[in-house]
Amino acid sequence: MPLPGTPRFPDDVPTLTAGDVTLRVHRAEDAPDAVVQCTDPVSVRWTTVPHPYDLEMAKGWLGQVVPGGWESGSEHAFAIETTHPDGVRRFSGTVSLRDAGPGRGEIAFGAHPDVRGRGVMTTAVDLLMRYAFDTLGLRVLVWYANVGNVGSRRVAWKSGFTFGGTMHAWLDHRGETTDAWVATRHRDDPAGPRGPWDDGSGQSA
Ligand SMILES: CC(C)(COP(=O)(O)OP(=O)(O)OC[C@H]1O[C@@H](n2cnc3c(N)ncnc32)[C@H](O)[C@@H]1OP(=O)(O)O)[C@@H](O)C(=O)NCCC(=O)NCCS
Repeated sequence: MPLPGTPRFPDDVPTLTAGDVTLRVHRAEDAPDAVVQCTDPVSVRWTTVPHPYDLEMAKGWLGQVVPGGWESGSEHAFAIETTHPDGVRRFSGTVSLRDAGPGRGEIAFGAHPDVRGRGVMTTAVDLLMRYAFDTLGLRVLVWYANVGNVGSRRVAWKSGFTFGGTMHAWLDHRGETTDAWVATRHRDDPAGPRGPWDDGSGQSA
């Protein structure tokens, strides 16, 4: 069974909060900050966001792609909201749960550059895991990243994922097939890292 469809978008999308981090439904007003995020070099380097990227693309993504994912159950994407360095709470990234077959989901995430490095994504992933396991009843989550994406790997490590090594030529990166790190997190796994930090340099392709 895929993730449940959400017939009444945006009304049925839950709001989840921990401290200063909230997961909520995406809104049209998020478009300018989504452009900043999607044109940031680190996002371009490590994600499959279209490049170049502009405001019209952000509006289409917010108005059609995100609602479509909720309605079909293919992807439950939450906007992350937290306080930016200018003191204003607003769009700060996206964390997603993608259908990966019965009882399984794939997590995917990207943070607005202005909020990185202070634990926002780790908190957002924790909220998403609770939603996946406790609300939807999933059994296991999988994480993939291009080999070398140490920031993403660190979030997965802090979130209690168990690393499985490198998958040769697994990810599509703008038409190029790239090697992937893979890790899984089971519902009954204890919170926190599974072992000492390892930046993956011993597992590069
Ligand atoms: C990966 C990403 C989401 C992390 O977001 P974040 O809010 O900074 O995450 P957190 O602050 O919760 O944790 C990140 C940790 O990784 C560290 N880190 C980030 N980039 C790093 C790098 N290149 N090398 C080593 N450590 C890095 C941070 O210092 C932080 O360390 P800490 O645990 O000691 O605090 C963000 O860097 C991002 O948006 N990257 C581009 C998109 C992307 O790669 N998405 C994932 C695709 S698989």
